[in-house]
Amino acid sequence: MEPRWYTEAVIYSLDVETFADSTGDGCGDIRGLIGRLDYLSRLGITCLWLAPIHPSPGGDDGYDVTDFYGVDPRLGTMGDFTELLHRAANLGIKVILDLVVNHTSDEHPWFQAAVSSRESPYRDWYVWSDEEPADRFEGMVFPGEQSETWTWHEQAGAWYYHRFYDFQPDLDVANPAVREEILKIAAFWLHLGVAGFRIDAVPFIIELTEAGNSNSPKDFPFITDLRQHCQWRRGDAMLLAEANVEPADLVRYFGDEGGSNNRLHMLFDFMLNGRVVLALAREDPEPVIDALRDTPKLPAGGQWATFLRNHDEIDLSRLTAEQRAEVFERFGPDPDMHLYDRGIRRRLAPMLAGDRRRIELAYSLQFTLRGTPVLRYGDEIGMGEDLSLPGRNAIRTPMQWSAEPNAGFSSAAAKKLVRPVISGGEFGYETVNVDAQRHDPASLLSWFERMIRTLRESPEVGVGSCAHVDAVLPDGVLAHRADGDTGTMLFLHNLADRPCTVDLSMLAEEAERPDWVFADRTYPPVNGLDQLELAGYGYRWIRLKRRAA
Ligand code: NOJ
Repeated sequence: MEPRWYTEAVIYSLDVETFADSTGDGCGDIRGLIGRLDYLSRLGITCLWLAPIHPSPGGDDGYDVTDFYGVDPRLGTMGDFTELLHRAANLGIKVILDLVVNHTSDEHPWFQAAVSSRESPYRDWYVWSDEEPADRFEGMVFPGEQSETWTWHEQAGAWYYHRFYDFQPDLDVANPAVREEILKIAAFWLHLGVAGFRIDAVPFIIELTEAGNSNSPKDFPFITDLRQHCQWRRGDAMLLAEANVEPADLVRYFGDEGGSNNRLHMLFDFMLNGRVVLALAREDPEPVIDALRDTPKLPAGGQWATFLRNHDEIDLSRLTAEQRAEVFERFGPDPDMHLYDRGIRRRLAPMLAGDRRRIELAYSLQFTLRGTPVLRYGDEIGMGEDLSLPGRNAIRTPMQWSAEPNAGFSSAAAKKLVRPVISGGEFGYETVNVDAQRHDPASLLSWFERMIRTLRESPEVGVGSCAHVDAVLPDGVLAHRADGDTGTMLFLHNLADRPCTVDLSMLAEEAERPDWVFADRTYPPVNGLDQLELAGYGYRWIRLKRRAA
């Protein structure tokens, strides 16, 4: 069967406002992004995930929307957006949008109408309680920045529910009018030409909130409706969800009990993310092996989206307290690097002390594990964080294009920038930027280009299956394989700093003409697979078999 596009994709996530400013007002915009599509094409990405582009007061970096059918004028016009879709399509790049429909901004006209009168047709679009709910102080997502989930609204004369910040009132998905509106929003953008959505906060969207019940029931069939509607409107539309839930609950997000993939196509693999970070901290692959063993089997068509970093903190809440402490000690030694008692607000390169060997190792691991890789803008050049910025903004600084003023991001005066660029030191734009790396074959950017090209020649990753190779290996070494219709790939990753030799002669019979296709350095020929050298923090991609697809 022909693979579905999302199983072969490389997704790149960016926020238009921090990517490239074409007008010189200090804020990135859609035309700026259009001007950089050739860069993304050369990098080899095939799908762009844009953080919310809608009008918003900006209290939660665009995740507080005031008009789901519009483009924030700071970023451009609807015309610019359709032009972006067209230009991206010409380069073979699909665009997906963030669908943020668990809540609106409290400035959204729907909420404004809802609070103005109990008779407003929009009153029931939100979740209310006349009494103070017993679970008022439970279920906060942003502890430290959020003190409750139910807030008294003076004008409305009632308590309203907000899973996130108090300026993000939750929509009531139990209301048929709300459900219909969500379907309409999705259809609107699909008709314009987007290829699908990254859906924000799915477990909360489907929450049928009952005041006082911190464990309200969930409406999974709504996801089925959404999937059916999107697919009816655009056959190859893809739904990628943020659903950081218990492993036992994951499968229900992919499909119903019948085992078909009739809900979401992809879920971010939060479980794997935490385990990979723990494995990197310990220099021991065991947590990754556990993750590969523990994760549930997905229905055909279901796919994981892997990531090392995203626009939020690294969420370590699914690790044990001891494991979390290990990761904090290694990657976030300063308490100022922590967020919400569960995460780290840093980029990967500084977490790995800027060590090229470990950065390559980490991304080689992510890109070869099961699923579709998602890369955060700037990570391909090894950008750092700015801990002087509040909360998650530390990792949301402008893209570093060049050593020109403002990192080539904008021609505005520095004080007008949407966020300051990182300047000075090991990760400052003077040192870390696209221009400096573009023409240097030894740069991290060039490495990413080669790695992604090689991945394209290895479609078993993503399309095929992924399994840990259970063999006696030197400490610190992970061996895993990807099998698909097109052949078999074997991957070795040495998470430790000790060079070693790996014996995988157990696979020799399966290997037709083994050859290494990608590695951290030039290694001797593979031959019988019994003397596979591996440098400290080294990695090797070995093709065991190739088949005509
Ligand atoms: C999850 C998003 O990733 C995060 O950035 C946002 O603050 C919340 N959802 C609320 O929309």
